[in-house]
Amino acid sequence: MNKQEKGDNAYFGSVRFFKHLIITLVVLAVLIPVCIAVVLAGRTVKLKQETQIGQEQNKRLEEEQKQLKEELSSLSAELDRMQDAAVAETETEDITAEHIVENTEDWELLLVNELHPLDSHFHVELAGIGRGQEVDIRIQKDLERMLQDMEEEGMHPIVCSSYRDLEKQTALFEEYISEKVSDGWTYKDAFYKAKTRVAVPGTSEHHTGLAVDIVGVDYQSLDAGQADTKEAKWLAENCADYGFILRYPKGKQAKTGIEYESWHFRYVGVEAATYIMKNGIVLEEFLESAGVSDAN
Ligand code: DAL
Ligand code: ZN
Repeated sequence: MNKQEKGDNAYFGSVRFFKHLIITLVVLAVLIPVCIAVVLAGRTVKLKQETQIGQEQNKRLEEEQKQLKEELSSLSAELDRMQDAAVAETETEDITAEHIVENTEDWELLLVNELHPLDSHFHVELAGIGRGQEVDIRIQKDLERMLQDMEEEGMHPIVCSSYRDLEKQTALFEEYISEKVSDGWTYKDAFYKAKTRVAVPGTSEHHTGLAVDIVGVDYQSLDAGQADTKEAKWLAENCADYGFILRYPKGKQAKTGIEYESWHFRYVGVEAATYIMKNGIVLEEFLESAGVSDAN
């Protein structure tokens, strides 16, 4: 046994050896749990981050799902509307003016124009619709529904004129003539011009309570500019769904006797209104095509 081997044997089993052993074990006993704790803490942080990312992704997915659901439901509502419109169109295509007249109440198709003055015994039951305006009680609900739907779509329609008695119409007619005469017109010229803008007293649809003038709150003048308001555009597009027609459309003065009025709407019932608006005709032409005598 050489000197080196003797020394090694002396170290193993020596007090120094056990000291080193104990120190090593103590160090290991401390280091191992610390390492485990560090690794576990690292994993926990990672897991937490992953969970947070997962939660955010879930939230995003839920929002996307909600959005998709809403889009789907609005698409499906649109589809329903389109189907209803297609069905209604097919149905109305087959219906003749004659058939509609047979199925419509006489009062709804009452013709009032220069050649058809209102009977002096005419009577109508009126209902208030706010702002001092009144209409035939039978059209009140449809009119209010139409105005309500416009409000819901962000418009602000105002009924600026509705039922008028003979005195009111006479005052409007004379006022129009006076204005023209003060502008230098002859009485005769002013009278003939007035007839195309304000119906001759006794021949106005406003006497029936079935006609209303509707303007937008932002533009209340009864002139050419009214046609450009969102209210006038919406009404021209949708009034028939509520039983109304644009009574004095562009290019029909020869038939109606009245110039284009984008604000004057007349109740005739949904079926007749749909037919009239879809075919771009006026009440006179509709009644003529249905064979109603004396509609000219
Ligand atoms: N402005 C319409 C024609 C009326 O006075 O009845
Ligand atoms: Zn009017």
